[in-house]
Amino acid sequence: MEIRAAVVSSFDKPPRYEPFDLPAPSDEDQALVDVLAVGLHPRVRTGASGSHYTSTGKLPMVPGVDGVGRGEDGRLLYFVADDDVVGPMATRTVIDRRRSVPLPDDADVVKIAAAMNPAMSSWVALRRRVPIETGQSVLILGATGNAGQMAVQVAKRLGAGRVVGAGRDRARLAALPGIGADATVALTDDADATAAALAAAAAAEVDLVLDYLWGRPAGDAIMALLRARADRGRALNWIQIGAVAGPTIELPSVALRSANLRLQGNGQGAVSTRTYLEELPALVEEIESGGLAVTARPVPLAEVETAWTAPEAPGVRTVLVP
Ligand SMILES: NC(=O)c1ccc[n+]([C@@H]2O[C@H](COP(=O)([O-])OP(=O)(O)OC[C@H]3O[C@@H](n4cnc5c(N)ncnc54)[C@H](OP(=O)(O)O)[C@@H]3O)[C@@H](O)[C@H]2O)c1
Repeated sequence: MEIRAAVVSSFDKPPRYEPFDLPAPSDEDQALVDVLAVGLHPRVRTGASGSHYTSTGKLPMVPGVDGVGRGEDGRLLYFVADDDVVGPMATRTVIDRRRSVPLPDDADVVKIAAAMNPAMSSWVALRRRVPIETGQSVLILGATGNAGQMAVQVAKRLGAGRVVGAGRDRARLAALPGIGADATVALTDDADATAAALAAAAAAEVDLVLDYLWGRPAGDAIMALLRARADRGRALNWIQIGAVAGPTIELPSVALRSANLRLQGNGQGAVSTRTYLEELPALVEEIESGGLAVTARPVPLAEVETAWTAPEAPGVRTVLVP
């Protein structure tokens, strides 16, 4: 079937809106949907550049990791795309019914497409990877982006006592108390200044860290927190989620010997697909009921090529609408 889609023909160029041949559903678990909204998440960009750890290298490809669509029975649904099929950035696509969840008829499709991916990272981290206990305190490293600002709200909704948001964009940091942060920390390239700012916000006493940055800020923060921690034997669960500040860190071995530091990640592979799917209905409900503030910018799918390279407004998720 011929559809129109955002087609990636070269990993170093943005996708173009072009005709694409969509294979028909191949078994009864697959279903054809009209796509209504697809988020342009960082994970979508790494997939379209061939650099995600799940990338197969096959071209041409249609990007996207999730979306909202309408099935042939007229019902709205949110779906997660398989890694090895035509992605959802298209007028129509084929989904796996087992990776979808029904939405109410009046669901805000753009809001759902914008929020599910960034919100899922903290939701699953705090419900499944290291289940949060009521009253525990959380540091969000990289709280100024879409996933980070969701994480501030998700942590509170899941019972966190104190939430500290850290980032480098001071204007965005100033907005975090309005969505639930109890304190904020301005990160800089100066490790001593970062350590002082973390200490001033009592960040050394948190139970959990959701880390969207990695790279140098994470390395600096781990050491700063461990040095300032009153009781180094108390567990510090560090959950690595994103790496916008760099793919590697330098970590002195003493960090792992001198304190009860538990370093783990949250993502495809660290958590099973089944676990993610089990969490979809509860998260949809949370977003639909207005529990999480979401800022989305809808853009026609036909304009994907320019939308891809346009500067992103901080804290706003672009959503492509066929
Ligand atoms: N594992 C998972 O399940 C999962 C799920 C969702 C997202 N993620 C990952 O999480 C990360 C964030 O995703 P997102 O949706 O929030 O992206 P986003 O909306 O683009 O936000 C990224 C934020 O990082 C900030 N930033 C970039 N470099 C920084 C640095 N060196 N120091 C401090 N802040 C820096 C940016 O702010 P400024 O540049 O304005 O300072 C921006 O606010 C990505 O790596 C994404 O792939 C992982």
